[in-house]
Amino acid sequence: MKKSAALIILSAAFMLCGLTQAADAKRGEALYQANCTRCHDTSVHTRPNSIIHSLDALKKRVRFCETNARLKWSDEQIEDVTAWLNQTFYKFK
Ligand code: HEC
Repeated sequence: MKKSAALIILSAAFMLCGLTQAADAKRGEALYQANCTRCHDTSVHTRPNSIIHSLDALKKRVRFCETNARLKWSDEQIEDVTAWLNQTFYKFK
């Protein structure tokens, strides 16, 4: 009984760690490649007339496209893809 209580506490602690974890760009890349290349490829992120001029705008755009694609992503998935796009293409501070 004691042992299982400790296990529950331990897994709760791990779940909390998961929630506060920084965005995972690697996971974001996989999500992008699997779900986001139906309408455009990554060349849209390096075009000279990009419509994205801040990290906030990038995140909003990811959510906008995600909604249009009916993917039902969590905030974490939005953060992961935003992080990957920013690190790879946009490089906003
Ligand atoms: C239903 C089609 C469609 C899908 C699927 C889609 N996009 Fe888009 N996305 C567009 C269109 C169209 C544009 C260009 C809008 C424009 O030129 O004004 C765009 C532009 C963008 C831009 C801005 C590019 C720039 O710098 O100007 C980002 C960022 C983006 N999409 C992210 C994503 C992500 C992330 C996904 C996957 C969740 C995704 N898109 C899936 C249609 C789509």
